[in-house]
Amino acid sequence: MADHGVSVAMEAVLKASGDLPEGTPKIRGYDFNQGVDLQALLASYITTGFQASSLGLAIQEINLMIEKRLEPVDEGEDKDSDDHRSKSGCTIFLGYTSNLISSGVRESIRYLVEHKMVDVIVSTAGGIEEDLIKCLAHTYLGEFSLPGKDLRQMGINRIGNLLVPNDNYCKFEDWLMPILDQLLLEQNTQGTRWTPSKMIHRLGKEINNTESVCYWAYKNNIPVFSPALTDGSLGDMLYFHSYKSPGLVVDIVEDIRRINSQAVFAKRTGMIILGGGLIKHHICNANLMRNGADHAVFVNTGQEFDGSDSGARPDEAVSWGKIRAEAKPVKVYADASLVFPLIVAQTFALHADKLTAGRKTD
Ligand SMILES: NC(=O)c1ccc[n+]([C@@H]2O[C@H](COP(=O)([O-])OP(=O)(O)OC[C@H]3O[C@@H](n4cnc5c(N)ncnc54)[C@H](O)[C@@H]3O)[C@@H](O)[C@H]2O)c1
Repeated sequence: MADHGVSVAMEAVLKASGDLPEGTPKIRGYDFNQGVDLQALLASYITTGFQASSLGLAIQEINLMIEKRLEPVDEGEDKDSDDHRSKSGCTIFLGYTSNLISSGVRESIRYLVEHKMVDVIVSTAGGIEEDLIKCLAHTYLGEFSLPGKDLRQMGINRIGNLLVPNDNYCKFEDWLMPILDQLLLEQNTQGTRWTPSKMIHRLGKEINNTESVCYWAYKNNIPVFSPALTDGSLGDMLYFHSYKSPGLVVDIVEDIRRINSQAVFAKRTGMIILGGGLIKHHICNANLMRNGADHAVFVNTGQEFDGSDSGARPDEAVSWGKIRAEAKPVKVYADASLVFPLIVAQTFALHADKLTAGRKTD
C-alpha cells in the first residue's frame, strides 16, 4: 500500500516532459564577469524573463519599425494623401501622457522629434503646456510623501515626486495671453481656423527654444494632436481669455481628419504608446481607419481586469481592428520613466546615423 503511494507520488513529481518547440529561447541573464557593458546588459534582457523579456521584445519590434521606415517609398504610393509631408516606409505614431513631459522622459522624446525619427505625435494638454512651461521656468525633484496642505501654502504643485512652483503657471499666462490675442486677430482678419494641432504648431514656433518638443515638432513639421487641449493650464488660459477677449474658436473636427489621414495613407504604421487614456486610444483609433497598425509597442502600468482601455492588452485592440491580426504587438508593464530612455538607447539612438542620413536638422 505504502509502495503504491510512493509510486503515485513519484509519477506525479517525475512526470516526463514533452518537447518544447524548436528554438524556444533559454533563460539566461547578464553575467557581470563580462564587466559593466550596458549594451550587452540590455541585450540580455530578452532572455531574462518577466518584464525584462517584454522590454527586449519591445526593442525588437521598434527596430523592425525602423527597418521598415528606412525602406524607400514609391512616389505613386503617396499620391492620395491630403497632407504633402514626405512619407517613410513606416509612419511612426508616438503617444505619451502629460506626466512624462513633466519628467525627464521629455529629453528622450525631444531627441526623437528633433531628429525627425517619428511622424505623428499625440499627447494630452499637460504634455503640451509642461513642455512650453519648462522653457520659462524649472520643474524640481521632490518626494511623493510631501504633504499637499504644506505645498499649497507654499504655492508649490506636486506631480508624483516632481515639484512645479505655481509661479511657473503665472509666467505661462504672461507668455501665452498675447499669443492668444494674436490668434484671435488672425481668426477675425484672415479667417484662420484654429485647431489644436495648428495651435501647438504655432506655440512651438513662438517658444523658439531648442529644449522644447513643440519647437522641434514645429521646425520639422511633425503634427502634434491633442483633442482635449483644454484639460490643463492651457484650458485655464483659454477660459480667462474667453472673458477678456471673447471669440477664439478651436476646431477639433479638422484635426480628426488630419490624424486619420496620417494612418489611412501610410504604407505601414507603427505605434509607440507610453501610458494610457486619451493618447492610447486616439492613436489606436486612427489606426482602425487602415484596418490596424502593422506594429505596436505599449508601455504602461494599466491592468485589464477593470475593463479600462488604459489597461487593455494589445490583443483587445486586435479585436477592434486597431492592430492587424498578423502583427506582433508588445506590451511592457512598467513605468515609462524607467524604460523609455533604455528603449531609445537600443533603437532610435543606436540607428541614428541611418535614420538621419542625408537630412539637415538646423
Ligand atoms: N503633468 C501632468 O501630468 C498634467 C498637467 C496638466 C494637466 N494634466 C491633465 O491630466 C489629464 C490626465 O493626464 P493623461 O491623460 O496625460 O494621463 P494620466 O496621468 O491620467 O495617465 C493615464 C494612464 O497612463 C498610464 N501611465 C501614466 N503614467 C505612466 C508611466 N509613467 N508609465 C507607464 N504608464 C503610465 C496609467 O495607466 C494611467 O492610468 C489630461 O487631460 C492632462 O492634460 C496633466
